[in-house]
Amino acid sequence: MEHVLTIEDVRNTISNWKKEGYSIGYVPTMGFLHDGHASLIDQARKNNDKVIVSIFVNPIQFGENEDLSTYPRDINNDKKLCESHGVDLIFTPSSEEMYQDKKAFVDIIDLSNTLCGLRRPIHFKGVCTVVAKFFNIIQPTNAYFGKKDAQQLAIIRKMVFDLNFPVNIIGVPIVREHDGLAKSSRNTYLSSDERKAATILYKSIQKGKSSIEPGCSADSIINTMTEIIQSEPLAKIDYISVVDANTMQPVQKVISPVLVAMAVYIGTTRLIDNFSYDPN
Ligand code: PAJ
Repeated sequence: MEHVLTIEDVRNTISNWKKEGYSIGYVPTMGFLHDGHASLIDQARKNNDKVIVSIFVNPIQFGENEDLSTYPRDINNDKKLCESHGVDLIFTPSSEEMYQDKKAFVDIIDLSNTLCGLRRPIHFKGVCTVVAKFFNIIQPTNAYFGKKDAQQLAIIRKMVFDLNFPVNIIGVPIVREHDGLAKSSRNTYLSSDERKAATILYKSIQKGKSSIEPGCSADSIINTMTEIIQSEPLAKIDYISVVDANTMQPVQKVISPVLVAMAVYIGTTRLIDNFSYDPN
């Protein structure tokens, strides 16, 4: 496995691959890799000649009071995971390499002003900008994103469509711990009591899944799921919303495909989870 740190080096390797006509699968990450990331890499490995993983804790997608400085990092472990899943190249640029200047941004309006975007105003602008930069640097055939970050996936799809990026976006199912908690680099922030309490998110998701039906009101689902979360003293709801699966705008009734998404604080750690539902 090759490990490069500069845009020039990654471009050199890729131009050689392109000359050979290889397809390139790309998995963008912020590192501290786990089985969720690994499932994206496995998908990429199955469907492409070459697989690239980027590891970059992107400063411009973190708000002022967020966890940029404490975001977990373990490059040695990340390298091992990538190597054992057949990655051909990892790209770990520095912030200086990625942002010599910060004057150009990519912002997807409307889809970014609901759910997490409402709470984290600059977040998706930071995500879209860095992903657009990586797409231009790597020029992948296929790029892989987890459904755990469903709003991110919808926004990236919209960016690619509206700005005509020649890349296929592939959504990969959520990978969970044995007790249902969605795998996340941020789970490492949880104390052992909080870790137990965090299973409440999945219990609420399961209840939501079993209660939802065609034509039902969004409020009835939100209330059912809220009740479950509120039964856990360590949990505090940031939001539970039912939105249109494409526009990410709230709906009143479930009559077209929806995303049911939540963000819940367990102590000071903010966790997200979701499920999709198609009433047709
Ligand atoms: P990060 O949180 O490291 O996640 C990288 C990718 O892994 C994302 O597409 C995310 O949805 C996926 N992923 C994380 N946990 C998962 C799980 N339990 N199951 C399935 N997929 C999972 O998302 C980011 O980084 C950044 O915003 C990034 C896109 C790299 C831009 O900086």
